[in-house]
Amino acid sequence: MAHDDILVAEELVKSYGGVRALDGASIRLRGGEVHALVGENGAGKSTLVRILSGTLGADGGTVRAAKDARIAVVSQELSLFPDLTVRENLFPQHPPLRLGLLDRGAMDRAARPVLAELGLDVDPRTELGELPLADQQLTEIARALLRRPKLLILDEPTSALPAAAVDRLERVLRTLTDRGIAVLYVTHFLDEVMRFAQRVTVLRDGLVALAGVERAEVDVPELVSAMLGGRPEQPPRRARSLAADRPPPVVLSQVDVDGRLTDVTFTVRAGEVVGVAGLQGAGHLDALAVVCGRTTVSGGRVDVGGRGLPRSLRDAVRAGVAFVPSDRKRYGLMVDRTVWENTTAVSWLALGRGGIAPARSELVRRTAELTERLRLRGGPYDLVARLSGGNQQKVVFAKWLATEPKIVVLDDPTRGVDVGVRAEMHRIVGELAAGGAAVLIASTDLAELTEVCDRVLVFVRGRVTEEVRGERLTEHGLAVAMQRPEVAASD
Ligand SMILES: Nc1ncnc2c1ncn2[C@@H]1O[C@H](COP(=O)(O)OP(=O)(O)OP(=O)(O)O)[C@@H](O)[C@H]1O
Ligand SMILES: [Mg+2]
Repeated sequence: MAHDDILVAEELVKSYGGVRALDGASIRLRGGEVHALVGENGAGKSTLVRILSGTLGADGGTVRAAKDARIAVVSQELSLFPDLTVRENLFPQHPPLRLGLLDRGAMDRAARPVLAELGLDVDPRTELGELPLADQQLTEIARALLRRPKLLILDEPTSALPAAAVDRLERVLRTLTDRGIAVLYVTHFLDEVMRFAQRVTVLRDGLVALAGVERAEVDVPELVSAMLGGRPEQPPRRARSLAADRPPPVVLSQVDVDGRLTDVTFTVRAGEVVGVAGLQGAGHLDALAVVCGRTTVSGGRVDVGGRGLPRSLRDAVRAGVAFVPSDRKRYGLMVDRTVWENTTAVSWLALGRGGIAPARSELVRRTAELTERLRLRGGPYDLVARLSGGNQQKVVFAKWLATEPKIVVLDDPTRGVDVGVRAEMHRIVGELAAGGAAVLIASTDLAELTEVCDRVLVFVRGRVTEEVRGERLTEHGLAVAMQRPEVAASD
């Protein structure tokens, strides 16, 4: 180890059951530097962090740390206690004692400068759960700093932080590195990498794709390429024919949602498939929530299906919206009921069509038509719980197709389904659009957006910053656009 190395890890290997999370990853962390660690979801970043901090054992490889190298970790999942006070959260293990009692004065004296440094203006007696999420995240960082670490690891600390808090964090990191501390900074925000970090390591599928390169030697598109690897890109899709004469089924005009969306304007026309994309908290999912009547709107104009702003999901359904959620176990299905009960649940319960329910034989007949169209493996009388995950997802689709929707909102519709079902879902989405539906889709899988969408609206910090279409509608193009505007604009 060189004299300024705080920690050196070599050839780390780790599997969870059959899943290889790390496949020979190495990293070298030096005092006085912010080292950024980036990679797609599931690349192995948190696994690496857990091994470096000693909370998880590796299957192979070595970790060597400098003498007395105290490591503090701010983990991706908040690990604080919401019903304890800020003060109690700050000193979980070794609180200062006086005559064997908790020395609250000493706690506050120690905490005050750290809280001030982070710009966290809170009374230490406040119950943590009462603070906004961003302040809770800063409290967690404060707790880590109070341990006076030689190495500070931050695993995606900024996803809930507003821009001003990110600025403060940048200043704090600078102070820490001036003191010779090493910082490992895990993030999906590449503009933060460019701002804070001296070095960057890119993980891809448990392997190091870029090893500790100097920030000055890379730019955002290169980082994105390293993260995605040499995956073949889809050819750009053909434009669909749109019903330009009719008013668009979805219109958002200068819409504000407190703290989440600012001045968002877009339309989705009949026959069109429009994607929304963004990093966590960027606002793209809030836009879906507006269309589905699942959020309060504080300004602007919304029209869904010609009926104005939907006030509830039921309202949205009446306006012709079908909503396929990502968490289908919780929101999408009654798993202990039959296929026919599920597929017909919304169409006559939520819509109350005609007041009285059609005969059961009629509902079963309609279900059979739908399951055939979707190539579902299972009949109308099968229990949903007995179907495979992919076939359950088809039942969710069937249930919404039964309402003959004018507007289809999809949130990660193919998460957890196999490639065959995924391709069929995409075929169905295409059919829905061809049949005149307006489709709005979010997906954590960027390839999915490039495959099914005519255009994709990119959200950054609550605003639509770009519309990506045509030749530029590639995974790489989207991933670069999802980074913040100051970076996207400068490349
Ligand atoms: N406890 C676990 N049990 C089984 N598999 C796991 C576990 N933790 C992680 N994995 C798997 O290991 C791989 C790497 O996960 P890891 O959490 O390290 O990724 P990451 O880069 O931190 O992703 P993200 O950006 O989503 O946080 C993934 O395929 C994940 O599903
Ligand atoms: Mg992680």
